Amino acid sequence: MMPARVRLVEVGPRDGLQNEAAIVATEVKLELIRRLADSGLSHIEATAFVSPRRVPQMADHDAVMRGVPRRAGLIYSALTPNLVGFEAAMAAGADQVAVFGAASESFSQRNIHCSIAESLQRFEALMHAARERAVAVRGYVSCVLGCPYEGAIAPAAVAAVAAALYQMGCHEISLGDTIGVGTPGRTSAMLEAVAQRVPVERLAGHFHDTYGQALANVYAALQFGVAVFDASVAGLGGCPYAPGASGNLATEDLLYMLDGLGIETGVRLEGLLAADRYICAALARPTQSRVALARPAAVTG
Ligand code: HMG
Ligand code: MG
Repeated sequence: MMPARVRLVEVGPRDGLQNEAAIVATEVKLELIRRLADSGLSHIEATAFVSPRRVPQMADHDAVMRGVPRRAGLIYSALTPNLVGFEAAMAAGADQVAVFGAASESFSQRNIHCSIAESLQRFEALMHAARERAVAVRGYVSCVLGCPYEGAIAPAAVAAVAAALYQMGCHEISLGDTIGVGTPGRTSAMLEAVAQRVPVERLAGHFHDTYGQALANVYAALQFGVAVFDASVAGLGGCPYAPGASGNLATEDLLYMLDGLGIETGVRLEGLLAADRYICAALARPTQSRVALARPAAVTG
């Protein structure tokens, strides 16, 4: 049965901007986040406390997290691959953090420089510190529907990593189709395998739109009962360690579909469109959102 309410996790400031060729000014990131906050979102992934040499786009993580506009009920989170990142995120005021692993060994090596087993060990130390401070930790699994280096990924491999993250205390597991190769049937098959190990209400869907399948995959996940989805305003994004990965599903396009299905989110489409126009003008690039293209500023006001 379809959920009556869906929680949107806006990942544009992190998953979107981490992949821009030019460094985006901190003030531009903060203005984007302010507009996103104004649209009624309840969760924004603001930045990543990762190595500035590996991902220069996120080097201003401290200033971004310290500068976000605080709103009642709005959670700001950040990617934190290790204890160093976790402590820095806490000092800067992050409400929640996220660890990120992968269902593919090759992707794990390239993205975070260690095997899947080693990554899970590293996360343990962070989980311990987070538990002591009562901070919720999200767990990402990348490459759940395919890997840029290994091709197809078995649903059982996704389920094993998702279960490990859940058992070590992650409150939510976000399943990432990092390179956007999934289709609805494979999405359902993957969810079947994962849901045997992790309760569906603890799962989130994170789809990239490389092959134009992201909304269809969301629909398959909704039918499965998944009620949390990640998306990126204007369809910004990709992953620096996933060649060929295009943007995330655009938040506006996801919201348009959810509104049409009568599924509540608390987010206003006009607010997202304003954020879309702002960031596309700042980056001097066209939006990847079909809804934004169909409703230019002259029409939406
Ligand atoms: P490492 O194993 O120590 O080795 O780091 P390294 O050589 O990769 O990096 C070492 C350097 O990073 C050292 O500095 C450390 O001090 C520093 P140096 O001596 O070279 O000057 N360092 C840090 N700096 C800041 N914050 C930290 C930190 N930790 C170490 N927390 C590490 C491993 C994971 C940290 C590193 O490889 C890294 O930062 N990788 C970047 C990974 C990344 O951000 N990938 C993109 C996000 S994942 C994604 O997009 C997928 C997702 O969207 C889901 C999906 O779509 O499927 C989540
Ligand atoms: Mg992603």
